[in-house]
Parts: sequence; structure tokens; C-alpha cells
Amino acid sequence: MQSFNLYTPTEIAFGKGAEAQTGILAKKYGASKVMIVYGGGSAVKSGLIGRVQESLEAEGIAHIELSGVKPNPRMSLAREGVEKALEFGADLILAAGGGSVIDTAKAVAVGAANPGIDIREFWGGREAITKVLPVGAVLTISAAGSEMSDSAVLTNDEIGKKGGVNTDLVRPKFAVMNPELTYTLPKYQITCGVVDIMMHTLERYFTPTQECNEMTDEIAEGLLRTVIRNGWKAYENPEDYDAASELMWCGSLSHNNLTGLGRGKDFACHKLGHEIGGMFDEAHGATLSAVWGSWARYVYKLDVPRFAHYGRKVWGLDIADDEEAAVAAIEETESYFRKLDMPTSIGQLSIGVQPEDVLRKMADSATKGDAIKLGCFKPLNMQDAIEIYKLANHA
Ligand code: NZQ
Ligand code: ZN
Repeated sequence: MQSFNLYTPTEIAFGKGAEAQTGILAKKYGASKVMIVYGGGSAVKSGLIGRVQESLEAEGIAHIELSGVKPNPRMSLAREGVEKALEFGADLILAAGGGSVIDTAKAVAVGAANPGIDIREFWGGREAITKVLPVGAVLTISAAGSEMSDSAVLTNDEIGKKGGVNTDLVRPKFAVMNPELTYTLPKYQITCGVVDIMMHTLERYFTPTQECNEMTDEIAEGLLRTVIRNGWKAYENPEDYDAASELMWCGSLSHNNLTGLGRGKDFACHKLGHEIGGMFDEAHGATLSAVWGSWARYVYKLDVPRFAHYGRKVWGLDIADDEEAAVAAIEETESYFRKLDMPTSIGQLSIGVQPEDVLRKMADSATKGDAIKLGCFKPLNMQDAIEIYKLANHA
């Protein structure tokens, strides 16, 4: 096992009605003036925003709102949020929504703690993040894991480029997680979430690490089996509380680093997916299922026994031959995505099959003009990225 630091400072309030604790938690983490960030309306329609406001008011906490966060959240809205937060003197930014809302709240928290510096500078890597206002989250979708993660992903809408920052400073102080809040999700968002949760562990599972790493592997494999089982149950019945609970907890554990301790991280599929999301505004989970199988077929020969092990432990394959088991494991994963109506090619996304120059443009952007490599299982250069996009570019 490689050396590691684990830092998971987020206090979790999990279960039915947990949102009633929001005010108490905000106060515990020093809030007296809160900015509530939410999306396009689902959290208002469900009554969640009203309940969160009441809970803050019960603790004597003043609040303002920033609404209208869209999936693939825009930097321009976060910038507006920074101005509002500064005017109001917000001392805690509270997200009520999914990854897009939480990441916008994180961006507002970065910007408001650093007045005078445009948030573009942090997301462009030109400024290091050293100060952030505290962030809290009330989660409404099991997916991105931002409620415990060190990351915040924004789309710079001036140039259509999506990218993230990673710092422990943006990890939320608390996350309120009531699985019932996910009952109103459209099926497509449930399954995009299932894919994303699986991918956060898979991107940590296929790495070049040779050291023994039994505990982390068992956690990862157990999480994947749990998501696969309960993802299907939630797809069939979005109001199955047990399935919704398992998915919600898996979503957080899959991206707080627990499933990757003692080994590197790959995240090449995320980089390939972010180009599609930034350029075409496709849902994050769908961009991942669209490229994963092509990535896996492109790289699996580098460690056939690892893919075979994955097939046996996660998919229960009873195949002795490693090569056969590895190929079957990739097929099982893709056929599960298809069962959930998730795309397994670029052609199955709403954008359809793309001309080759678009694939080249995305590969160029992901690798910054072939200056950086993506991932570590097989560090991908620009030509590798083009080849994977081409493999995925069918109906
Ligand atoms: O805006 P509203 O009306 O709320 O609708 C949202 C949105 O349209 C809807 N929704 C959310 N909860 C709902 C609901 N609809 C009905 N009932 C509910 N309870 O779902 C849609 C998608 O929301 P979004 O927040 O975009 O979903 P998700 O949680 O999948 O987040 C995706 C974003 O997170 C980023 C992705 O790149 C993407 O931009 N990620 C963030 C990460 C992080 N910060 O650690 C890691 C991930 O890898 C990912 O990159
Ligand atoms: Zn993701």
C-alpha cells in the first residue's frame, strides 16, 4: 500500500427529515449570514428551499438566495454569486441541490474569500486557493459526491471549457443527506448518478499500482456491487427508500477518496467526458458511460489480470482465463449501463456521431495541445485521446 493522508472533515446528517438540522449545523460552523444556492426549480417545487429557510430562521440566521444553477454549472453565475455574497457579508455558503449546485457554492465561497481576484484565475490554475468561506450542502441527488469531495468543477461559459480545482479547503463542513429528497429525480438523472458513482471508484481502481492493497480493493469492490444492485432497484422504483439510501451513501464514499487509498488516481475518462460536457452541455454521467468502454478496450492489455479480477469480484464472473474474463468484465459493465438506458457511445448521446475534427478539437483541449497526459493507468497523449474518441464515435 502506498503512503496516504485521509482528510474527510464533513459532518454528515443522514436520514429522513435530516434537512431540519440545517440551521443547527450552519450555526455550529459559525454562520450568521448564509447564501443559499440552488438550481432550476426542483428544490423549490419540492418545498425543500422553504424548509431550509425555516430551519435557518429558527436559529436566527439571516439568508439570501442565488438561484438558477444549471447542470455543467457556469462560471458567470458563480461570479454573480460572489458579488451578492460580498454585498450581503455572507459567512457560509449553503448548497441545496446536486453536484452543479454544490460546485457553484464552492466557487462562490472561493471568490467571496478572495475579493478582487476573478474566480477564473483559480479555475485557470493561475492563482492558488488559500482561503475559502465555509460551505454546507443539502444533497438532492446521489451522483457527483461533491458533498464530501475536495473538488469543484465549473464550465467557463466564455470559452465552453469545463474544468475543476482540487483543494481540501473546499470540502463541505457538513452535508445533510435525506434519501427521500431524491424521489423526485427523473430516471435519466438517477442513472447518470449511478454511472458517476461507479466511475469515481473505477477511476481509482484501474491504476498502475503493483503494491498489495487488499482493504482498499475490498472497499471498492463492495461499493461497486452495492451501487450496481441498488442502482437497478432505484431505476425500477425511485421511491425505494433502502435503494435510495444505499446509493446516497455510496455516492459520498465513492468520491471522498476512501475507495482509492494507497493507490494513484486515473480520471482519464472524466477528462475525456468533461470535454464533451463543456462543449455540448451533455449530462456528466452520460459522457462517462459514453467513453468508458472504449477507454477500457484501448488500455486493458496493459493489465489483463486486473480487469479479470474486477470481472470476478464485481460481476461474479466464473471464467478461469484472464483474457476472456477481462473482455467479459468490460462487456458486463457496458451492458449494465445499457440496461439503465445510459449511452455507451458518443453516437448515443443527444449530439450523435461527431465529425473527426470535433474529436481532434476535444483531444487537443483535454491534453492542452498535447502538452499534458491524461490519467496514469495508461497516460494518454493527444493521439491516444483521439483514438478513444474514435472508438466511441458510433451509433
Ligand atoms: O436544477 P434543478 O431543477 O434542481 O434540476 C437538477 C438538474 O437538472 C436535477 N435535480 C437534482 N436534484 C433533483 C433534481 N430534479 C428533481 N429532483 C431532485 N431531487 O438534476 C439535474 C442535474 O443536477 P446536477 O447537480 O448537475 O447533477 P449531479 O449531481 O450529477 O452533478 C453533476 C455536476 O457535478 C460535476 C459534474 O461535472 C457536473 O458538472 N462533478 C463534480 C464533482 C465534484 N465536485 O467532486 C465530481 C464529479 O466527477 C463531477 O465532475
Ligand atoms: Zn464524476
